[in-house]
Amino acid sequence: MSESKIKPLAAPPKHVAVIMDGNGRWAKARRRPRFMGHKAGVESVRAIVNSCVDYGVEVLTLFAFSSENWRRPEEEVGALMSLFATVLDLEVKKLHKSNVRLRIIGELSAFTPKMQKLIEKAERLTAGNSGLILVIAANYGGRWDVTQAAAKLARQVEQGELSAADISPEMMDGAMSLAELPEPDLFIRTGGEKRISNFLLWQLAYTELYFTDTLWPDFKGEAFEEAMLSFSQRQRRFGKTGDQIEQGRK
Ligand code: IPE
Ligand code: IPE
Ligand code: MG
Repeated sequence: MSESKIKPLAAPPKHVAVIMDGNGRWAKARRRPRFMGHKAGVESVRAIVNSCVDYGVEVLTLFAFSSENWRRPEEEVGALMSLFATVLDLEVKKLHKSNVRLRIIGELSAFTPKMQKLIEKAERLTAGNSGLILVIAANYGGRWDVTQAAAKLARQVEQGELSAADISPEMMDGAMSLAELPEPDLFIRTGGEKRISNFLLWQLAYTELYFTDTLWPDFKGEAFEEAMLSFSQRQRRFGKTGDQIEQGRK
């Protein structure tokens, strides 16, 4: 537990998914290289992990590197990779002490063998923990995720283990990267853009969306509390009418 005094929510989101955007602009505003923004962003990662533990959030998914981010200048991609490696190496021990279970999703085969080993080691070390599940999406793309899930089911059909007619949304769920975890209840994007940028396409079907202009390195403490407050004021109807939801509460 961190020492912040948050107001507990009656029904906190079980799963929060975040596009951590705005690091580059944060650095530019300070006339610093973009990389300094990414470095400063690590501080916000620590803060949101602690806040999620305080609020009783079960799963936190963070978009760290998209399948499209390889298009950035080589220098920035390299800097992001070494930052990722350092964080994996140093932060994981602290996460482990906080009982956090780490899971990395994405097309991991694109990473260097050294990085893949670090990922494996981090997941193995924290696998038995029972606290917050921290999911890091790295070289992740929503379209890739849907495609790999379809391919997984197609292979089962090919092998005669499954009939194509039996394929259901639930089966797709089970083949997706976030299988067995609850769907995100709250999606947050910092940095002012209002787009999904190929993040969780399948899983965000009924997620509450929250966009803020705050840049990721500034997204700490109160900024997250505001997002949680906004979530607590929403009525989730899942296709029903507002009256039905009200009646269900009585
Ligand atoms: C998000 O910040 C971090 C990554 C994509 C890795 P950006 O680097 O996209 O920051 P802006 O959008 O350029 O400000
Ligand atoms: C999305 O941010 C990816 C991550 C935060 C890791 P981008 O900054 O790459 O998104 P676009 O390209 O502006 O949509
Ligand atoms: Mg960006």
